[in-house]
Amino acid sequence: MSYNLLKGKKGIIFGALDENSIAWKVAMRCHEEGAALTLSNAPIAMRMGKIAELAKAVNAEIIPADATSMDDLTKLVQQTMEIHGGKIDFVLHSIGMSPNVRKNKHYTDANYEFMAKTMDISALSLHKIIQALFHADALNENGSILGLTYIAAQRAFPNYNDMADAKALLESITRSWGYHYGVKKKVRVNTISQSPTYTTAGSGVAGFDIFFNYAEAMSPLGNASADECADYCVTLFSDLTRKVTMQNLFHDGGYSFTGVSEKMMELFAKKS
Ligand SMILES: NC(=O)c1ccc[n+]([C@@H]2O[C@H](COP(=O)([O-])OP(=O)(O)OC[C@H]3O[C@@H](n4cnc5c(N)ncnc54)[C@H](O)[C@@H]3O)[C@@H](O)[C@H]2O)c1
Repeated sequence: MSYNLLKGKKGIIFGALDENSIAWKVAMRCHEEGAALTLSNAPIAMRMGKIAELAKAVNAEIIPADATSMDDLTKLVQQTMEIHGGKIDFVLHSIGMSPNVRKNKHYTDANYEFMAKTMDISALSLHKIIQALFHADALNENGSILGLTYIAAQRAFPNYNDMADAKALLESITRSWGYHYGVKKKVRVNTISQSPTYTTAGSGVAGFDIFFNYAEAMSPLGNASADECADYCVTLFSDLTRKVTMQNLFHDGGYSFTGVSEKMMELFAKKS
């Protein structure tokens, strides 16, 4: 169902790889709500993913960019403004990758070149994207920038590896840019801390099935799906949330504030 919440708005969606990607669902929902979009992903994802299919479905142009390259991002912002005939209103950063996770390097045996890459791709890329937008004065007043994060930024999840450190940095960058962009241009910057979700990046984490099921059993409302995350993103891109900024917003069915659930208590009850 469409509420026309984004009618007349223009945005960039980073990170749609295939139909399981959270960014894919967000692009579909934004399109339904009346937004005009451009899509971006790493050049390698053009060959491996299905972004062309999505571009057709949401009538958007694709601008390939490595989100660690300031050059690529500066060009992308310019091109986006040309396509849309001026400033835009919202941006989704839905980007994450850890070579340590990919190569099964344990946290206690981290490869530091890999770790630097994890930080660059998964956290500094948000800083770079925002800096490119800021210097080009690319966002309208009340514009909204969103990143996606995970609760491993606050609590230890051993298998999440160095992605936990990257998410902590991502959330800090969100607050810092939220301050500066807010003061200068009234642009908001927030992160959504999403439940475990079956996607290419999500399923790459060792033991993903276990923490998906654990979160499901702990959350009063159950895990939030990618479609539900897309709904939440739409509200944060819309004018209904103009004063929400610098926040890390949990979208996890109540998981983050549950100490223990009855389902978990049953599981650990001693059989007499
Ligand atoms: N899936 C989950 O359980 C979950 C939970 C909480 C948060 N998140 C976050 O959601 C975001 C989206 O991930 P997803 O789960 O939809 O998985 P996904 O694999 O579909 O998306 C990750 C995207 O990052 C892109 N990417 C990687 N390196 C890049 C680079 N150098 N430049 C540009 N793009 C690059 C990939 O091409 C891909 O499209 C990530 O930030 C992830 O950490 C995911």
